[in-house]
Amino acid sequence: MTDYICRLMQEEDLSEVVDLVKSASDYPWSLQNIRESLFSNYDKAFVLCSLSGLEILAFAVIHKVLDESHLQNIVIKKEEQGRGLGSYFLEQLIKFVKDQNQHTLLLEVRASNAIAIKLYESIGFQLDGIRKGYYPKGSGREDARLYSLSFV
Ligand SMILES: CC(C)(COP(=O)(O)OP(=O)(O)OC[C@H]1O[C@@H](n2cnc3c(N)ncnc32)[C@H](O)[C@@H]1OP(=O)(O)O)[C@@H](O)C(=O)NCCC(=O)NCCS
Repeated sequence: MTDYICRLMQEEDLSEVVDLVKSASDYPWSLQNIRESLFSNYDKAFVLCSLSGLEILAFAVIHKVLDESHLQNIVIKKEEQGRGLGSYFLEQLIKFVKDQNQHTLLLEVRASNAIAIKLYESIGFQLDGIRKGYYPKGSGREDARLYSLSFV
C-alpha cells in the first residue's frame, strides 16, 4: 500500500469528489455537504490519491470536538472498493487523529452497511450502542450503530 498519497482535500478537488461520492454511496453527501466540510473550522476533509496524484480514489471527513474526533464520512471510489483501500485510508486517518492528541475516534454507521461494519470492527472499533431509527431509509427508518476507537 505504498502507491497512494493521503492529503487534505483542496477546493479544486470538489467536482471530482462530488462525482466519486455520488457514484459510490447509496446515500451520497451533496455538493453543499462536501463544500461545508472543506471550509469548516472544525472539519478536515481528506482525499486518497494514486501516487501520480492524478486520480482521487477516496474521500473522508473528520470532525473535531475538543479532544474527540468523529469520522463523518468515508467513501472509496466504486471501482476500487473491496481491494483494501478502505482499511488503508482509515489507518491513515487514525494516524492523523492520534497525531492531533485526540483520545477517541467516534463514528456511526447504518445497521444495514455490513461492509463498513466489517471494516470498523476489523480495525478494532468497539460497539458502544444502537440509536434506534436514526437514519431515514426509503419510506421508513433504520438504526445507527455507534462505534468508538480509544487511544488512551
Ligand atoms: C465501506 C467502505 C468505505 C469500505 O472500503 P473498502 O475499500 O470497500 O473495504 P476494504 O477492501 O478495505 O475491506 C474492509 C473489510 O470489509 C470486507 N469487505 C470488503 N468488501 C466486501 C464485500 N463486497 N463483501 C464482504 N466483505 C467485504 C473486507 O474483507 C474487509 O474485512 P477484513 O479486514 O476482515 O478482511 C467502501 O465499501 C465504501 O466506500 N462504501 C460506500 C460508502 C460507505 O458506505 N461508507 C461508509 C459510511 S459509514
